[in-house]
Amino acid sequence: MTLSRRNFFKLTGLGAAAAATPGAFAQNAAPGNAGALGYPVQAIARLDALVVNQPVDFAYPDAASACQLLRLGHAVPGGIGPQQDIVAYSILCPHMGCPTSYESSSRRYKCGCHFSVFDPEMGGQQVIGQATQDLPRVLLELAEDGSIRAVGMVGLVYGRQSNVQFQEVSA
Ligand code: FES
Repeated sequence: MTLSRRNFFKLTGLGAAAAATPGAFAQNAAPGNAGALGYPVQAIARLDALVVNQPVDFAYPDAASACQLLRLGHAVPGGIGPQQDIVAYSILCPHMGCPTSYESSSRRYKCGCHFSVFDPEMGGQQVIGQATQDLPRVLLELAEDGSIRAVGMVGLVYGRQSNVQFQEVSA
């Protein structure tokens, strides 16, 4: 299998992690880039059905990867939608893979296994605990029909060497 250096960084999210600028939070998918690198394009919810501070469960990029979509009610880095307040993350803790839970009162994702805490308002950044990585982010886009779609990920889902199986492209 041939994997270019550039695609390796895209698949693993290392390229985004290395970009230590506010732009590194960019969660909007580039137009026309949806589904690139083998990621499926998947409708999650309609914009008009989202309730602020109430997460929506979904699985992405496959059924074994639990994620949540969250409308925060104010603009956040990387947020999409009219208010730039919609984000999504893998909810599997990057420490040892336990599912994290969203606590609406603190607006944090918390892991009950070893008490790591993550901030969805700051790109899933780890706040405290055993984990050494942030929550993997789901790249989102708002379609013309008002649906929020997942189109890719930044960061590895716990326990994976790549988030998706990709096809070898022959030269
Ligand atoms: S599995 Fe979440 S902190 Fe250890």
